Amino acid sequence: MTTFVLFGGTGDLAKRKIIPALFSAFVNGRLDKNFMFIGAAREALADEDFRQRVSASIESYCAKDCGSTPEQLQAFLAKTHYAKIDAREAADFQGLKEKLHTSESNATLFYLATGPDLFEPIVQQLSVHDLVSGNARVVVEKPLGRDAQSARDINAALRKYLKENQIYRIDHYLGKEMVQNLLALRFANSFLEPLWNRKWIQDVQISISEQVGVESRGDFYDHTGALRDMVQNHLLQLLSIVAMEPPVNAGADSIRDEKVKVLRALHKFTPDEVSKKTVRGQYRAGAVDGKPVISYQAEPGVPTASRTETFVAIRAEIDNWRWAGVPFFLRTGKRMATRSAEITINFKPIPYSIFGASQRNLRSNRLVISLQPEESVELFLKAKEPGEGIRLSDVALNLDFAEASSSRRVESYERLLLDAMHGDLTLFVRDDELTAAWDWIDPIMSAWQSDTEGLKSYIAGSWGPAAASYLLAQSGSSWGEEFVEG
Ligand code: BG6
Repeated sequence: MTTFVLFGGTGDLAKRKIIPALFSAFVNGRLDKNFMFIGAAREALADEDFRQRVSASIESYCAKDCGSTPEQLQAFLAKTHYAKIDAREAADFQGLKEKLHTSESNATLFYLATGPDLFEPIVQQLSVHDLVSGNARVVVEKPLGRDAQSARDINAALRKYLKENQIYRIDHYLGKEMVQNLLALRFANSFLEPLWNRKWIQDVQISISEQVGVESRGDFYDHTGALRDMVQNHLLQLLSIVAMEPPVNAGADSIRDEKVKVLRALHKFTPDEVSKKTVRGQYRAGAVDGKPVISYQAEPGVPTASRTETFVAIRAEIDNWRWAGVPFFLRTGKRMATRSAEITINFKPIPYSIFGASQRNLRSNRLVISLQPEESVELFLKAKEPGEGIRLSDVALNLDFAEASSSRRVESYERLLLDAMHGDLTLFVRDDELTAAWDWIDPIMSAWQSDTEGLKSYIAGSWGPAAASYLLAQSGSSWGEEFVEG
C-alpha cells in the first residue's frame, strides 16, 4: 500500500500541479490499488471539504479532466482524506500517525510543498513519531535555499532525521520528457560523442523564455529574482546534463556523480567577470502576444522601486578538458516574446567555403533540442536549394516527438511523483549538486548586490535587454531568434 501525504495540501502548488498529477497517475492506472492520499495543512477542514477542493483543482488544472470518467473521479475522492496539521504541534502528528498504516511493507511518501522554514519542524515531528523509518521518502520543493549557506543549512536539517536516499529534492525540469531524451540522445547514439566537445562545438545556448509575468507571486518573486528562481536550479540542471561525461551506468548516483562534477567545474566569477559576463534586466510595460501588460514594478506585491531581476543572461564557462573555452550561454526571463525552452548546440563553422563570397555568411550546423512548447530535436544541415547554380540554405532533420510517438505524454510532476513512489532518485537533485550550484551562484549574487547600476530594463514582449545580444556578439555568436543569414 502506498500513502501519499501532501503537506501544503491547500496551497497553490498543490492545487495547480501536484493534485492534478496525482489524479492523472491514478486515472492511468499507475498507482497501486490500495493507494491513499492525505492532504495536510493548518486549516481546519473536514475530509469532504478537502475533497471538494481536490475536485475543483482537477476540473481547473487537469486538461479534459485527465481523460477521466465521473466514476474514476469518485473513486479517487474516496481515497482522499485530510489531516489538519500545524507543523509545530506534536499532537497533530499523532493524529496523522493514526491515519497511516505504518507497517514495514507500506511505503509512505511525504511531499513537503511548504516553505523551507517548515521542512525541519515537519521532518522532526515525523521522526519523533517514527514515521520516516522503513520505506518512507520525503519530497522537498524549491526554494531550496537563498544562497550556498542556507542550502547547506536545509541539507543539514533534513539529514538530522533522514538518510540522503530518502530525500527527493524536486526540480520539475528534470521530469520533462526531453530531459530524459537528452540522456538517450547523448548516450545511446554513437555519432554525437566524437563531436561533443571543444574541438567541434562553438557554443551552447540554453534558453528558457516565459510569456507569463509574476502572476500572483509578486511578493515571493521580488525576494527571489530570476537568478534564484530559474538559473540556480532549472538552467544549471540542463547545463549539467548537456556537459556531463558518460556515466558508468544509468543508476541515479552514477548520473548524479557526473552532473556534480560539471557543476563543480563551472568557472566562478570574480566581481569584474560578473559585470562582463552577466546581464540582468527587469521588464517595463509592453505587450505580449498583442495584449498590453503592466511593468514588473506595477505588479501586485512588488515594491515600486524594486531592483529585482526578471531576466538573466550569463556567459558561463566550464573549466575542464572537454569544454575549456566553449561558452555556455544561459538565458531566462519573464514577459518575453515567446514561451520556449531550448538547448542549442552550435557547431564550429566550416574552415573555408568553396562556394564563393555570396555563400560565406552561413550559419554553421546546429542541434536544437526543444523542451517546450513542442518536444523536438532538429539537426540543421546545409543543403543546396533546388534550381540553377548553388544557393545553400538550412534544412532540418527533424524529429518531432508528438508525431513520432502516440504514447501518452506524462507531465513532469506526474513522472517525478511516480519516480519518488518507486524509489528512483535519478531525476532528483542530490545534496552535493544543490550546494555546488549555489556555490557558483553566490559570487554573481553578491556582485550584483554591490552594483546598483547594472540592472537594465526591457520592454515586456521583447527578447530582453540589448546587452544580452551584445554578450553573445562579443563571442561572434547570436541568440537563435536573431541570426540573419546572407
Ligand atoms: C518555476 C518557477 O520553478 O518554473 C516559475 O518558480 C516558472 O517562476 C516555472 O514560471 C516555469 O516552469 P515551466 O515548466 O512552466 O517552464
